[in-house]
Amino acid sequence: MTAPLELTTQSLAQLGATAADVPRLFAELRAEFDRAAAGVTDEAGLEALRIAWLGRKSGILNAVADNWLKPAPTDLKRVVGPALNELRAHAESFLKERRYGAAAAEAAVKHEHLDLSLPGVQRALGSRHILRQTFDEIERIFLSLGFSVVAGPEIETPYYNFEALNIPEHHPARDTMDTLYLEMPKGVPGELLLRTHTSPMQIHTMERQQPPVRIIVPGKVYRRDNPDSTHSYMFHQVEGLAVDTDITFCDFKGTMEYFLREFFGPKIRTRLQPSYFPFTEPSADVYGSCFLCDGAGCRVCKFSGWIELLGAGMVDPAVYGFVNYDAKQLSGFAFGIGVDRMAILKYGINDIQLFFQNDVRFLQQFQ
Ligand code: PHE
Repeated sequence: MTAPLELTTQSLAQLGATAADVPRLFAELRAEFDRAAAGVTDEAGLEALRIAWLGRKSGILNAVADNWLKPAPTDLKRVVGPALNELRAHAESFLKERRYGAAAAEAAVKHEHLDLSLPGVQRALGSRHILRQTFDEIERIFLSLGFSVVAGPEIETPYYNFEALNIPEHHPARDTMDTLYLEMPKGVPGELLLRTHTSPMQIHTMERQQPPVRIIVPGKVYRRDNPDSTHSYMFHQVEGLAVDTDITFCDFKGTMEYFLREFFGPKIRTRLQPSYFPFTEPSADVYGSCFLCDGAGCRVCKFSGWIELLGAGMVDPAVYGFVNYDAKQLSGFAFGIGVDRMAILKYGINDIQLFFQNDVRFLQQFQ
């Protein structure tokens, strides 16, 4: 068959074509255009394509208009006209789209200086707060000893914060923890407070489960302190409690030593000093040898060589009475770690307020 382009040099009458042939003839032309257009992407190629097909003088569609449309009788014109318009629209819209793309690509190539050494866009990723990291480290150590982690409410009743911990209403031990009480709605009986320590969870846990108990309780605690470099009205503790039928003071001491070595490093030595807490008997303050001077004496340890790290002791049998545990069968130990203090000592931070000011220059040091 004759190539479609050659057909456009003759009139439809010369071709012997009728209205019925028109769709096929235009379909062939359109296919020819698509073949010619395929792969043309650059501006020069597109311009050549435009001139060949849409050019005013020698364009192919011009030839179609001159040879197929103009000489045709009116009824044939009615078929050829729309078909020609459609083909022209097809060619024009193709050129327009490609040109737009070609122009954009050329502009991009012209303006883009691809510098592969340039670092990519850096999106600020969050990181764990140094206190969160300290919690995680403490939890890791006790998890490795078989403790599990529990959490409890920050709003407590005086019963759990004090009474059940063997601190009766007028006991002077309540004075050491200046307590924030909540204002109760009118008509609501009772008292609520912000827990002053994580120890209430000792009671909640023993109420809920039978021994053996081995838990730690990370969390926030509140006291009525004025903020300064060593005080904050909100700070953090990790409570610990182990109760079973055969727990000895040696288990207690060994656990404390293991924890401090894991947390501060193998060089640390520990010392227990008699202390007093209403819910432990005997009670001890756990000291570590000063990480800075290694016991020689310096400003950080107030020239004693030792730093007080946490409060602890063997669970006072009176506490078992509050939770219906058999004090004759059971023994255990408890401890309360000040998380902020541990972080301050481990990382040489000189102001507890830095933890809460959200200054990224401070926080970024611990990423
Ligand atoms: N709850 C005590 C405090 O906050 C610490 C502590 C916990 C002491 C457990 C002994 C046993 O001061």
